[in-house]
Parts: sequence; structure tokens; C-alpha cells
Amino acid sequence: MLGLVLSAEGALAGSGQSGEEGMPPPGVIWEARVREPLVALTFDDGPDPVYTPQLLELLQRYSARATFFVTGRRTQEYPHLVTRIAAEGHQVGNHGLEHKDYSSLPPEAVVAEVTQAGAMIQELTGKRPSVFRPPFGAFAPAVVDLLEQQHYHLVLWTWSTNSQDSLDNPSTEEIASRILQGVKPGAIILLHDHGGDRGPMVAAVDRVLAELGAQGYQFVTLDELLAKEAAGG
Ligand code: NI
Repeated sequence: MLGLVLSAEGALAGSGQSGEEGMPPPGVIWEARVREPLVALTFDDGPDPVYTPQLLELLQRYSARATFFVTGRRTQEYPHLVTRIAAEGHQVGNHGLEHKDYSSLPPEAVVAEVTQAGAMIQELTGKRPSVFRPPFGAFAPAVVDLLEQQHYHLVLWTWSTNSQDSLDNPSTEEIASRILQGVKPGAIILLHDHGGDRGPMVAAVDRVLAELGAQGYQFVTLDELLAKEAAGG
């Protein structure tokens, strides 16, 4: 099967350019065109019993909202965390059933897994997820249309703000500076709240919230960011 793989490590993610060869197919979202200084923090792979609560407390302290792309499997393991994420005003996105590379699975099977994970999330939050992020950013282009029919946006992340927080144990300083140097209005910032020691990531988010907040940035959910873009930016 022909798959498109856009990993955090990949050349595409590192290219930092729009409109060049290797860009995702139509319908895939990696940033929003908005004039106001709005950004979307996104946290993948959770929920995590240690780091997700730390992030929720941090976000509350800064009156910031974010989007958590949870897996179905971890939703089953930590239902109270998924409920809490939604109850505190954040968005719960769909990161598939398990953390699987979907580029080699038939598109119909991917959609079935996404739908299944979505039902688990909806049962806890009362809301059907509107956004799906494929693990590893890997997917076959055919799933984009199929998921659109299920009212899902396929959302990646903004290359210029790639924190690379899940690679080679970066320091707080490295994670924060990668985000701060590449940030722009409409950026979708990729972070991970599960998998290894996420302590430096949490500290980096604290710094990013403080510094971007001082620059006038607001932290919104993906739904809010996309609604702003749809309203003309
Ligand atoms: Ni992931």
C-alpha cells in the first residue's frame, strides 16, 4: 500500500516550507490562517497519569486551552483523565485506537479504528471528536476523504514549531526555544504528554505559556482556531 509518512523525524516535518514537494494532500490541516495571535497547543499519546494532570494544572494557571490527542487504549485505562480534560474546557482529539502506524493499514480499517476510539471518547465526554491525528503523522491519502465523510479533520502540526520533544530527550531549553523561534499566529504546536520522562516538556510548556502570553498570544483549542479561520481569520 502506498502510504504517506510524515514523521516528526521526517524530512517533510523538518522542511519548514509550505507549498513544496511532499506536502500533505488536500484536506489535511497543519496550521490555520488567522491574523490574531492565536495558537493551538496539542498533546499526543496520553492521557498519562503523571504528566496530563501536571499540564492541566499549568493550563489552568495561565487560563489557556489546549487539545489532547488521546488513544482509545489509554482512554480505556484512564477514563477519568479524559473526562477531566474535557471538563476543564480543553478539546479531546482522536489519536486512533492504539499507537499504530496507519500508513500500512487499508483505509477502511483505519476509519474503523478511528471510529471505535471516537466512540470511547464520546462516551466519556459527551462529544464526538472532530479532529484526528494519525500516530507518527503516518497515513494513506485515501483516509483523508473517508474521515471527512465521518466529519473528522485530519490534523498534523506546524513544521516551524516542531518541538521534537519526543526525540533524544531534549532539554526544557531546547523544546521551548524550538517553539518560540518558529511560532506564528495560527500555529499548531506538537507536544507529547506520554512516553518517557516528560518533565522537561512540562517545564517547557510553562515557559512557552509565560513568554507567548507576554507577547499577546492566546492559547485556544483546535476547534476554536479552525472556527476563527473559517470566519475569515
Ligand atoms: Ni503519537
